[in-house]
Amino acid sequence: MVNHSLIFARAYEQEAGSRISPSTRPLFHLTPWTGWMNDPNGFSYYRGQYHLFYQYNPYDTEWDAMHWGHAVSRDLLHWTYLPAALAPDEAYDSYGCFSGSAIELNDGRQLLLYTGVRKEGGDKGKEFQTQCVAVGDGLNYTKYGHNPVLDASCLPEGYSPYDFRDPRIWREEDGSFRCVVGARKADKLGALLLFASPDGFKWRSEGVLAENDGHFGRMWECPDFFPLDGRHVLFVSPQDMLPEGFEYHNGNGTVCQIGTFDRESRRFIPSHHQAIDYGIDFYAPQTILTPDGRRVMIGWMQNWDTCKVTGYEERPWFGQMSVPREISIKNGRLYQQPIRELQLYRGRRVSYDDVLVDGPLSLDGIEGRSAEILLHVCPKDASDPFIKFTMRFAEDEQYHSILSFRPHESLLKLDRKFSGSRRAYIHQRRCQVSDRNGEIDLHIILDRFSIEVFINDGEQVMTATILTHAKAKGISFECDGKAIMNIAKYSLFSED
Ligand code: FRU
Repeated sequence: MVNHSLIFARAYEQEAGSRISPSTRPLFHLTPWTGWMNDPNGFSYYRGQYHLFYQYNPYDTEWDAMHWGHAVSRDLLHWTYLPAALAPDEAYDSYGCFSGSAIELNDGRQLLLYTGVRKEGGDKGKEFQTQCVAVGDGLNYTKYGHNPVLDASCLPEGYSPYDFRDPRIWREEDGSFRCVVGARKADKLGALLLFASPDGFKWRSEGVLAENDGHFGRMWECPDFFPLDGRHVLFVSPQDMLPEGFEYHNGNGTVCQIGTFDRESRRFIPSHHQAIDYGIDFYAPQTILTPDGRRVMIGWMQNWDTCKVTGYEERPWFGQMSVPREISIKNGRLYQQPIRELQLYRGRRVSYDDVLVDGPLSLDGIEGRSAEILLHVCPKDASDPFIKFTMRFAEDEQYHSILSFRPHESLLKLDRKFSGSRRAYIHQRRCQVSDRNGEIDLHIILDRFSIEVFINDGEQVMTATILTHAKAKGISFECDGKAIMNIAKYSLFSED
């Protein structure tokens, strides 16, 4: 059973989506069928395919009236749009169907657990946030007749009913369900509430899984919680972060905590924390376990602090998902690698070894906007490292973006100031990399309007979107001092 708002949205997106030329989109990063996209939602493997839903406003390239967009894929790189799954059409979600997650039920149906938001007292009223369920077959979903399944009555004393969102559901080995939901304590700081259910519909509280002591921003959005390599991992996307060295930046950030889950007290006990992404555009990641046992993460390849700006008028869509990333724990840290399926779509390889870079340099065949680049840089003389090594990309006479490395400070910098933006929002970010005597390994993924840099085997990642028109394909290098570079570049999906 679908209702009028959803029927309308589905007709609209099909028509508007068909008018968007694929040449305006990246090749393998998911964009909204039409309009606006934010968080990944309901990332799941269901009936032989990966499903990715997303926060979606089909009608405009600005955030408004959240729907759930929907796409499916067999390899997480080629996506097929399906009709929107949810529209805000019930009293309890009339202001929007906010973020949530998905899981398969015993009877083979798929359950979506999402935040239904309603406003009281008109547009200026406060957002009441509750958790709601819809059940479907991978294409059509029916909202549960007894929604919401979790509301203000499930909150501990003093918690805010206006900040209670983004449920992340999973199943325990005994088949029962758990979910963790972002909430806000009386002291205005974030906390994650744990709930249990025998069937996905009837929930009871299991207490507070984790809480913010003020170290990580204020409200915590979009939690994910899962076992990985013998530990437990908690992801949150905090709002209102204060900066901390080069680890965390101001504003909306992403935090990975690694620790243990104490099943007695139902508490998560963290022993390590770090940023998930050190670049500019990354937020609200979700993970899945693939059928072959890999933990794969996808994030919204934008950030609230850098997207509420004009300058996107030329594109009929707004918002991209990151490349899917395989994650693991090594040396007590989170490591990320681009999903290995990407290697299946490598095209022409151009490589150069032991190239001396001691000034500006371009290399035949090293160019392109949808490409994978493996770059190793080290000082020519280990006892006298270079001052700065620079790679420019998305370059033509007018535009370029820069990745630069200063071994003396172990700083890698991403700079998109000259990428076509006409606004003064954040265009640069620096990342403190581990000191390897002036050496650095970079695995770079370019896909027309973005760069993702996997640093030193995935120990850190920097992600940013760029606006530059896709014809600016130049890549060039420069060094202040003397560096030796090994480079291999693959075209991807037979582009460039
Ligand atoms: C995070 C977020 C979520 C919310 C959604 C609304 O980006 O603010 O907390 O569910 O976006 O679109």
